[in-house]
Amino acid sequence: MSGEGSITRFGVLGTGRITRRLVADIQSTDGAEVTAIASRTSERARWYADQYGIGASVEGYESLLVRDDVDAVYVALPPSMHAEWAIAAAKAGKHVLCEKPLTLSTKQSLAVHLACEAHGVRLLDATGWLHHERTEMFRRWLDEGRFGKIGHISAAVSFFRPFITGEHRLDPALGGGCLLDLGWYVCSLARFIAGGLPNRVVAGRVVRQGVAQRITAMMWFDHDVTATLSCGYDTSTRKWFEVAGSDASLVCDDFTRPWHDRPARCWIHDATGGVEQFPFEGNQERRMIAKFISDEPLDAYHQQALDTQHMIDAINESVELAHDEV
Ligand SMILES: NC(=O)c1ccc[n+]([C@@H]2O[C@H](COP(=O)([O-])OP(=O)(O)OC[C@H]3O[C@@H](n4cnc5c(N)ncnc54)[C@H](OP(=O)(O)O)[C@@H]3O)[C@@H](O)[C@H]2O)c1
Repeated sequence: MSGEGSITRFGVLGTGRITRRLVADIQSTDGAEVTAIASRTSERARWYADQYGIGASVEGYESLLVRDDVDAVYVALPPSMHAEWAIAAAKAGKHVLCEKPLTLSTKQSLAVHLACEAHGVRLLDATGWLHHERTEMFRRWLDEGRFGKIGHISAAVSFFRPFITGEHRLDPALGGGCLLDLGWYVCSLARFIAGGLPNRVVAGRVVRQGVAQRITAMMWFDHDVTATLSCGYDTSTRKWFEVAGSDASLVCDDFTRPWHDRPARCWIHDATGGVEQFPFEGNQERRMIAKFISDEPLDAYHQQALDTQHMIDAINESVELAHDEV
């Protein structure tokens, strides 16, 4: 996208929590800068632009898409708005970096992909952990058969926080609930390890305040690989997985993002109680942004995102069948 020495100029849609982190990451990535930020209100956009040293503040998302000083759009809105604004950005000829979950459904995600393809722009979902150097090591270890034959994958991602009023995570109309928000991570992990889609999914949920606050899913993949996945808003922060093989297990307790101020880490546990710890440095978001603004093919990430969305659809279908709300 950005040629030798050129700068990719980002426009940002939304001024929420994740925007703060990603704006800092974009601004500190070589070859990228944030030139404009849009909010629903001009006051909020101006306040944000002043706080974070962004040149232009814009009222309304549409106004950002027509700007000449924006090459790529970072969509940091509630999930229900991702498809609409990612497609609008593509139609305006802007490359699209879209927050996770990519959209609400596989159908919507395919529409986003088609729009980006049709308008010749790049697309990437902002699933940061896939871009950490450590994740490349996971892949190498798996390909080398370091753990023997993989049998089972377990993963859990959660946090406990009383929500403030107006929180999109509690609004079904905005794509609220833990499945799209946190289930995206556990499904992406299982898909990354298993390398494809499950053949069977069984899931249940705990519903409170009108949205799923906890989801548990079991999955069956090819080659007898199984998975148990959990996500929720009612247990304290967890971001771990275990991949159990016939020779050893890979364990990680910070896969979505390293614990604050600590290096990323993981362990290999062998069958005799031996444990080896591996620390990793590096910023996954900056690596992700660097990849997005490069010319590197992104097809593998596209397939990973579509499959993740597919798994979320399957969990949704299974919990609907369970009639848990009667
Ligand atoms: N990659 C990650 O690590 C990570 C972490 C957290 C969240 N996320 C994802 O990022 C997205 C945003 O999450 P967030 O936690 O940043 O959300 P948030 O703090 O609630 O911010 C969402 C922003 O969207 C805009 N918005 C437009 N219509 C809205 C509506 N009806 N209700 C609420 N906000 C509305 C608002 O910006 P304006 O008022 O300025 O228009 C708001 O600040 C979600 O898809 C979430 O899953 C990703």
